[in-house]
Amino acid sequence: MTIWVPEDDGFADLGQHDAFAGGAPYNTFARLRREDPCHWSDFDQGKGYWSITRHADIDRMIRDVATFSSASGIRMEDQTHEEYMARRTFQETDGTEHRKVRMKVAKAFSPGVVAGFEDQIRALCHPILDSALAKGSFCATHDIARELPMRMLGQILGVPDEDLTWLVDKGDALMANTDPDFTDHVADKMDTDAYRLMPFNSPAGAELYEYARDLMAKKNARGDTTGILHLILTPDENGETISDTEFRNFFCLLVAAGNDTTRYSIAAGIQALARQPGLLQQMQSGEVWDTAPDEIVRWASPATYFRRTATRDVEVHGKQIRAGDKVLYWFISANRDPQMFPDPYQLNLARKPNRQLGWGQGGPHVCLGMHLARLEVRVLFQELVKRINSVETTGPEAFVRSNFVNGIKHLPVRVTLN
Ligand code: HEM
Repeated sequence: MTIWVPEDDGFADLGQHDAFAGGAPYNTFARLRREDPCHWSDFDQGKGYWSITRHADIDRMIRDVATFSSASGIRMEDQTHEEYMARRTFQETDGTEHRKVRMKVAKAFSPGVVAGFEDQIRALCHPILDSALAKGSFCATHDIARELPMRMLGQILGVPDEDLTWLVDKGDALMANTDPDFTDHVADKMDTDAYRLMPFNSPAGAELYEYARDLMAKKNARGDTTGILHLILTPDENGETISDTEFRNFFCLLVAAGNDTTRYSIAAGIQALARQPGLLQQMQSGEVWDTAPDEIVRWASPATYFRRTATRDVEVHGKQIRAGDKVLYWFISANRDPQMFPDPYQLNLARKPNRQLGWGQGGPHVCLGMHLARLEVRVLFQELVKRINSVETTGPEAFVRSNFVNGIKHLPVRVTLN
């Protein structure tokens, strides 16, 4: 049985969000990997872009940060310098500038610190699974996958429980700013110019800015100087701090990046459990927990691509990339590359080695939340498979309308319990 079959004809326009609305166009990525691994596309909303689709190429190029820079934006859409300066976080910087900020927060997300969250994550899983599984039939994305990352991030950021749903709705409005189910301001369908200095061109950015300011004011009033938000505001050894704008953008980045990617990894894992025979028993055997989370993230590939900008003229597969050109690393394609992954359309929970690139591994921008996400995925599935005998889908899944976020936004399932 196949978990899901892509429906595209192999010639999808990767610049169009609609091309991903029925699920990612894997047949197009397969053709590009075979025929044109450094592919030029015109783009109706700005300058065209190069698509890099093979694992080996992305793995090599993502390390070459002198040639391929993050400091002109990380999405396909163009930005003016003013927009870039207003919206950027350390993710959109290079070299020392990037390192200085990343170092401040890296410790809070290090493997050692994150390992200490295991009991807390397990404790969060119990009520989530209790209430979802008791229903018998439910949406696995909404009732399970969305809940855990939201609650965990809330605890890390020190956000009160009653604000969490609001916060995550706003994060979704940013990340999925091209899907009408998540925002009233669909980025490629209407004029969002009034919000062009806000993260993701979204009015939700302004609301999150305000929320971040209030949250810090309340923490300061309590004399609470713990947590990630304070870490990032701490002056470095030269007494330098990040600006207000950078701080608020960092907050938006965590709310957006820390939620939906883990959510869609969990959702894709549950979809696979329902559709690929043997996975549930394999998980229940308990022998795959070292390898399963990375394979689930490979399968899910929630971050479809990130962009770089060439700093010099460079040739790739006989194509002349010019200084200033946009270059997209399609992680989602690398993660289905048969040259790297035998049987890429099957979930192989014991896959080892597994050099999946779902977290942008290899370069200095490798996902800050990787260890946290890996732990959340493992613990959630450990707790889920303890409790169920079977899981099946009861209808078609629905996907986020976005070429940037690959996610199953609706996954109707039925479970039977142990
Ligand atoms: C399965 C879940 C996740 C996936 C698939 C994912 C994916 C990614 C990818 C591909 C990048 C690299 C971007 C680039 O190369 O430009 C990245 C960076 C980042 N991620 Fe994640 N992410 C996940 C979870 C998280 C979580 C839980 C957090 C925080 C709580 C987080 C925060 C960040 C941050 C701050 C960066 C920027 C790092 C930098 O530029 O140095 N992510 N993520």
